[in-house]
Amino acid sequence: MGGHAQGNCQPVIKADLIGHSEPSSTVNPQRLNTSMTSTSASASVVSDGLPSLAIANRLATARIYLHGGHVAQWRPAGHGEVLWMSARSLHAPDKPLRGGIPVCFPWFGPHPERPELPAHGFARQRAWALDTVTDLDDGSTRAVLALVSDAASRAQWPHDAAVTLTVTVGSTLNVELAIANRDPAPLVCEAALHTYFSVGDIRRTTVEGLAGTPYLDKVGGVARRIEGSAPIAFSGETDRVYLGTTATATIVDPLLARRITVAKRGSRSTVVWNPWIAKAAKMADFGDHEWPGMLCVETANAADDRMTIAPGAIERMALDVSVTHA
Ligand code: BG6
Repeated sequence: MGGHAQGNCQPVIKADLIGHSEPSSTVNPQRLNTSMTSTSASASVVSDGLPSLAIANRLATARIYLHGGHVAQWRPAGHGEVLWMSARSLHAPDKPLRGGIPVCFPWFGPHPERPELPAHGFARQRAWALDTVTDLDDGSTRAVLALVSDAASRAQWPHDAAVTLTVTVGSTLNVELAIANRDPAPLVCEAALHTYFSVGDIRRTTVEGLAGTPYLDKVGGVARRIEGSAPIAFSGETDRVYLGTTATATIVDPLLARRITVAKRGSRSTVVWNPWIAKAAKMADFGDHEWPGMLCVETANAADDRMTIAPGAIERMALDVSVTHA
């Protein structure tokens, strides 16, 4: 997983010390800190109302909230913060965080039949269990989080699935979502790693890699279009689900003088989103003036690319983010 070497890994925090099914709200930071082995990297659970795992190794720093299985920060050595978090994000056990990498599952956008259910599924507002944290030979740190169907999830989605999020923090950021179908019937679902990137100014940012790709344009109703040959540029609200694409997308950011490359596996949809002025103003957890500084390029299987997972099978989708000075 993640293309990183796995031999002779150092387990930093062991699952049996944490309690695989323990709700995140009861994870004891002290217990986690004292369970760490001696290692060049550090991983500890801290809390700003919601517990999160703070990782620091020689390659990068990162923060992963157990709430939502949510990567909120990733800063590779020699670069600034790559992910964007809203200063207005809520930090509540029943609300998603705004920014970082929310996990959307088992549906994307509004529920197709029950609009009262949370948009983008329930995974981003549930407490995930922290399974293991491991130092890898190449200096990166791997955290594994888990979310398993329970009575609360079945009330919204009457299926059994075990979802695992594997986050590898190094000079690249690798995030893999694995969905295991524990139902006796095929499981139909959608998922997204809804990644918010920090950009200097969206109006001067472009995205390469999606030329000629069909997409659903969700601004002002849903229309099917085909992307042109030029890099994507932004001059208004943008909400697009690119379909049937496994391509790497590159964010070209002249103001921050960097290129962010988003490569993916097991994903056939790429969502590109910026709310622009009016939509940002309507969102309580999004600052009115924050929209120029963010861009979502999401690794997904949504709409036409929804997944059907056979009983007992596991479906995996993953992203690899890297940054270069440009
Ligand atoms: C994007 C969707 O992925 O997420 C947009 O395509 C949506 O339609 C956006 O507005 C944010 O969604 P939410 O539920 O986090 O406000």
